[in-house]
Amino acid sequence: MKGWFVTGTDTGVGKTRVSCALLDALTVAGVPAVGMKPVASGCEPSAAGPRNADAEALRAASSVRADYADVNPYAFPAATAPHLAALATGVTIDIAHVCRSYARLTGLAPCVVVEGIGGWLVPISRSQTMADVAAALGLPVILVVGVRLGAINHALLTAREIRTCGLKLVAWVANRIDPDPILDDYVPALGHLLDLPLLGSFPYDPAAAKAGSQSFLDLSQLGFADPAEKSSY
Ligand SMILES: Nc1ncnc2c1ncn2[C@@H]1O[C@H](COP(=O)(O)OP(=O)(O)OP(=O)(O)O)[C@@H](O)[C@H]1O
Ligand SMILES: [Mg+2]
Repeated sequence: MKGWFVTGTDTGVGKTRVSCALLDALTVAGVPAVGMKPVASGCEPSAAGPRNADAEALRAASSVRADYADVNPYAFPAATAPHLAALATGVTIDIAHVCRSYARLTGLAPCVVVEGIGGWLVPISRSQTMADVAAALGLPVILVVGVRLGAINHALLTAREIRTCGLKLVAWVANRIDPDPILDDYVPALGHLLDLPLLGSFPYDPAAAKAGSQSFLDLSQLGFADPAEKSSY
């Protein structure tokens, strides 16, 4: 069983795009995988309850069918910081509840891709953050860097804090969210400064055809290099 917690340098840097691409890459490699968005703010009402676009995208990219409630145990209507969104609905986020949903997902597929919310230290209550969720799940972390001005500082701060939390930062992904050619130098600079395996480098592509995005990822960086390991699934 393998799982990863996908965090980012900020909100809107490509965590969902990369998480879905990772699910696709695993599927193409013949490895069943399911996505999870433990806490989401910004949800639309539906007959079945609030629904979040990220959670729906991860569910659609998963190769197994999972209950929405397990993919996204906390879904808040307001598109704001999750602890404020939780406060507005009178809900307390219980990390043990997230862990139970995660455990059910691990029963469906050998790989789980968990997308965080916002950046690494986003609070989920007055005393806890999403970092506590990642720690409780015991997952290695993948850092998505939204390549734009300021990204180097954000990436280094985030990497330092992940390690300070005692979590294993296993890889990073460069996601070009700004087409400015001045940023061409950022990816090699970040590679040097982060000193981490590069799982993938996504070009600037606002239209982002869904099919094929998995080709930007190198699964060997996550330990899938050995064909014998793949065939064990
Ligand atoms: N490589 C890219 N090129 C151009 N646009 C991109 C790229 N990656 C992501 N985007 C766009 O940026 C926006 C944010 O992407 P995405 O939803 O994946 O980020 P996120 O980190 O998951 O955001 P959130 O914090 O809301 O969960 C989307 O509109 C997406 O289409
Ligand atoms: Mg997202």
